[in-house]
Amino acid sequence: MESTFGIVFKGYPYFKEKFEKENKDIIKTRLLFKKTLVLRGVEAAEIFYDQSKFQRKGATPKRFQKTLFGEGGVQGTDGEAHRKRKHMFMQFMGKEAVDRIKENFLQLWQNQLPEWMDAEELVLFDQVEKILCMAACNWAGVPLKEGEEKLRSKQLSRIIRSAGAVGVDHYRGRIARKKAEKWIIGFVKEIRSKKQVPGENSSILETFSLFRDEKGKLLPEKIVAVEVLNILRPIVAIARYITFSALALHEHPQYKKRLKADEGLDLLFVHEVRRYYPFFPFVAAQVKEDFEWKDEKFPKGTRVLLDIYATNHDKRTWVNPAAFYAERFKDWEGSAYNFIPQGGGDHHQNHRCAGEWITIQITCAAVNFLVKEIDYDVPEQDLKISMNRIPATPKSRFKIFNVRRSKR
Ligand code: HEM
Repeated sequence: MESTFGIVFKGYPYFKEKFEKENKDIIKTRLLFKKTLVLRGVEAAEIFYDQSKFQRKGATPKRFQKTLFGEGGVQGTDGEAHRKRKHMFMQFMGKEAVDRIKENFLQLWQNQLPEWMDAEELVLFDQVEKILCMAACNWAGVPLKEGEEKLRSKQLSRIIRSAGAVGVDHYRGRIARKKAEKWIIGFVKEIRSKKQVPGENSSILETFSLFRDEKGKLLPEKIVAVEVLNILRPIVAIARYITFSALALHEHPQYKKRLKADEGLDLLFVHEVRRYYPFFPFVAAQVKEDFEWKDEKFPKGTRVLLDIYATNHDKRTWVNPAAFYAERFKDWEGSAYNFIPQGGGDHHQNHRCAGEWITIQITCAAVNFLVKEIDYDVPEQDLKISMNRIPATPKSRFKIFNVRRSKR
C-alpha cells in the first residue's frame, strides 16, 4: 500500500501507530511509489547500521537531495569514500572546537540581549536561528557581511523547512539551496585561486575546499558547497531543539527550579528534549545483498527506512514514552541503538550525525541561558505542534516578552 499520503496527513506517528497495532518491527509499504520496508526498535537499528547489509548510495530520493541534503554529499557515500569524507567533518568535532562554537554562540546571544530587552515581543525560534547562523559562519570561517546574517539564516531555514514540504515551499527550498550553494562556491574559488595547502589552523571552509578524496582528487566546487552547508544548515537547525526546550520549560515549569539546583540535569533534560519531540523522522538506506530478518525477505536494492520517532518512543525501551521525564536518562545505559534522534551506531564509522556533540552542547548552553541568565514572560499563543509538518515546530515558534536579566 502507498503510505506517502498517510505520512502527509498523519506525519511522525503514522508508522509508530502501525507498528504498535500490528505488534511488528517491520512494515512493508510503498513510499514515493517505491517498495519500502520501514523498521523500528533497537534490534532494527543494529541491523540497519550493519554496513555489510546496507548501503547509502541511491537511498535518498531526489526531492530531498534537491532541497535538504544537496547532491553529492557525505550522506550518499559508502566504504572508503565515506570514511575519508566523514573524517573531513569529524576532525572538527573534538572538545576544543565544540567549546569554541558554544562560547561564541553564548557571546552572540549576550550581545543581542539589549535588543531582546527593548523588544515588545519576539519569536524565540527566529531569533535563535539568526544567532546560530552567525555562530556557524564564524566557526566554519565563512565570511558574513554586516547584516547578512538575516538573509543567510532565512535561506538556511528555508532549506530545512523544505525537507518535508510539498508545492511552493518545496520549490522555495530548491531556490534557497541554489542561492546558498552559489554563495559558498564563490569562497571556494577564491581559496583555490590562492593555491594554499591545508594546515592545522585552516578553517572548515578552507579545509573542505582543499580536501582530497580517496583518489587524491579535489571535490567539485558544488560538492564542497554541499558539505559546507552540511555544517551551516544543521547548526541553524539546532534552533528547533532550543525552541522545544523552551516549550518543555514552559509546560513543565518544575524543571526551571531543578535545573538551577542540579548541575548535571541539563544533559538529561536535553536528551529528553531530543527523544520526546519530533525532528528527523527517518534515515534511509538500500539493501546491499539479499538477506532475511525476522522472517522477512530483504531483497537487494530495496529501500529501507529506520523510523527514528517510533524507536525513540518504543514502549519496550522507554517507560511511558509519551511523558516528558528527563530523569529517565539517569538509568539510560548509553546504547548506540535505542536512542537515535541523530542516527545510531558509531559517529566515525557509520553515518551517525557528525554534529551530535555540538547539538547537545549548544542546546545545553541554551537551556542554562534560558533558566539562569534571563527571565521572560510567555504570552497566549498557539504552541501546538502539528505532527504532519516535517520538520516540526510549535505553531507560533514560541513568542516571549518582557525579557530581563535574571537576578539570580
Ligand atoms: C547526519 C540529525 C545537527 C552534521 C545526521 C543524521 C541525522 C541527523 C538523523 C543521519 C544519520 C544516519 O544517516 O544514520 C540531526 C539533528 C540535528 C543535527 C536532529 C539537530 C539540529 C547536526 C549538526 C551538524 C550535523 C549541528 C554539523 C555541525 C551532520 C552530517 C551528517 C549528519 C555531516 C552526515 C553524516 C554521514 O553521512 O556520515 N544528522 N543532526 N548535524 N549530520 Fe546531523
